[in-house]
Amino acid sequence: MAVSVDLGARSYTVHFRSLSAVPALMEEAGLQGNRCLLVSDEHVAAHYRTPLERGLTDAGWAVHTVVLPPGEATKSAPHLHDLYDEALEWGIDRDTPLLALGGGVVGDLAGFAAATLLRGLPLVQLPTSLLAQVDASVGGKTAINHAVGKNLIGAFYQPQFVCADPRTLDTLPMDEYTSGMAEVVKHALIGDPDLFADLENHLVPILSYRDREAVASTIEKAVRVKAEIVGADEREEGRRAVLNFGHTFAHALEQVAGYGTFSHGEAVALGMRAGLYLSHRRWPDALPRERIDHVLQAIPVDGDPSSAPFPALYEAMAADKKNRGDSIRFVLLRRLGEAYVTGDVSEAEARQAWAFACSS
Ligand code: GLY
Repeated sequence: MAVSVDLGARSYTVHFRSLSAVPALMEEAGLQGNRCLLVSDEHVAAHYRTPLERGLTDAGWAVHTVVLPPGEATKSAPHLHDLYDEALEWGIDRDTPLLALGGGVVGDLAGFAAATLLRGLPLVQLPTSLLAQVDASVGGKTAINHAVGKNLIGAFYQPQFVCADPRTLDTLPMDEYTSGMAEVVKHALIGDPDLFADLENHLVPILSYRDREAVASTIEKAVRVKAEIVGADEREEGRRAVLNFGHTFAHALEQVAGYGTFSHGEAVALGMRAGLYLSHRRWPDALPRERIDHVLQAIPVDGDPSSAPFPALYEAMAADKKNRGDSIRFVLLRRLGEAYVTGDVSEAEARQAWAFACSS
């Protein structure tokens, strides 16, 4: 199984293969040199570092591994600088591949290091969380956070290939799994009615007991949606913004409630309920609100989102870096599988949408 991301000279493949295939995929991708840099975090390294290093060494690569602390705080300038120091002191050249083994934090930070070290090292994304497999590792967004906000220092930098090993999801904690599922549902809603039908029909096997076959097909379809959108608009000059469905409210909630109070997936699920409310008001005949809401409500949310005061949420939404001019940009659905961006949502309507998102 594989999905192509078509970007002319920067095209690449997302493989759904075992991590043991990585050395062969590196050869297939034409990666050269005999040294490579492996970046991971403590949790992921405990499971996958040793077999991956062994496979690379057996294939003739000298490997230097940098293991970072887990968690969002790692996506920061000090950790980036530590990584620069280790890479440069060990000795790299412009052919040295950098392999990012982990979830979104490792992929974003290591990806940005690859984009900037020696003006660009070949990057290989090895995502081990569902969120990273269906979203963060595909499309070339790399970044670190700044005190002023998340992902404010970054670059678009595409990998040479992505290898998403389905078995790494077996060790994923449930809250991280459901976080990823929120993005899968998002991809279904903005780009693939068939994927939505799969989710609707297999909600329990997919969400609760992670049926391997159902999950694998779901992930592949979700990645196809992302690959198609990125292929059409690599640098988010237009259509790629639909990937932010649910994220206007979600980013505001994460900020106002305090990062970590709600997981990103919980926040996105709530934000998509708000987006559904706004969309259905505009397109009542085209959108099956109850069916969509049933799937969105299947994503468990731990905590009371209504404890975040709406005025603070609205202020945070107004300050979002993705706004243009004065209007807050919302992504809405025109029908199942089709999304668009609009600035035409009043504060009163946003308040009603948030009340809907918080209702049960
Ligand atoms: N995660 C949204 C994007 O890649 O554009």
